[in-house]
Amino acid sequence: MAKVTISTLGKMKAAGEKFVCITAYDATFARIVSEAGAEAILVGDSLGMVLQGHDSTIPVTMDHMSYHTECVSRAANGALVIADMPFMSYPNSDQAMANATRLMQAGAQMVKMEGGTWLSNTISKLVARGIPVCAHLGLTPQSVNTLGGFKVQGRTPKEAKSILADAVEIKDAGASLLVLECVPASLASDISRKLDIPVIGIGAGPGTDAQVLVLHDLLGLTENTARFVQNFMAGQNTIQGAVKAFVKAVKAGEYPTQEHSYQ
Ligand code: KIV
Repeated sequence: MAKVTISTLGKMKAAGEKFVCITAYDATFARIVSEAGAEAILVGDSLGMVLQGHDSTIPVTMDHMSYHTECVSRAANGALVIADMPFMSYPNSDQAMANATRLMQAGAQMVKMEGGTWLSNTISKLVARGIPVCAHLGLTPQSVNTLGGFKVQGRTPKEAKSILADAVEIKDAGASLLVLECVPASLASDISRKLDIPVIGIGAGPGTDAQVLVLHDLLGLTENTARFVQNFMAGQNTIQGAVKAFVKAVKAGEYPTQEHSYQ
């Protein structure tokens, strides 16, 4: 595929065209995801759960992320490679800079960090030095222990207001993408309309500019029973077919539906 950049994704948002992001952690799946037409590949720290067997993303290290980012970037074939900054790799802007540099040198074209207002200074420093940032709000899995579990966020008016304020602030700080995870569909639509940067949803309903899923979830390989997960292997004979079915469903506006969404 022609090289996807953040400006490609911005233009797709402006044209009302949905785009697709899928996680991958190795070269074979990066190639499959890219050949299926996904515009972006996320080297997610979800690898701690789906590859390493942990019950959270907290044990994932910079060495793990660098290694998997190298593997994916060799086969991304034009798709935008976004690499997750793992737990505690960005407690301040200096450490964030050093660790984001490692991921960019491993082949990422953008890094993703979980958090809102407290990250804005770090985001603006990274962006000013040439490192594009995708922010991640709503259910932020690295904070599972402070959130008290993997729970839907933003259900009360106070929480919703705070997520919206965080989204505006990280956008003003220079983030060029935002992942919104497990928030009510109406809040995600509202934020997607208000921000001029693309918003990628997961468990955030049909109103975002793009969707992301963990590859192993969409292939029906995990025990993730969250309502937003759909097994795209159903009715397919090959992994390639399932990944293409996901890409097609997102682009056609057929996934997610209200049935996959939270209120
Ligand atoms: O690590 C990951 O795969 C993620 C997605 C769930 C958005 O952050």
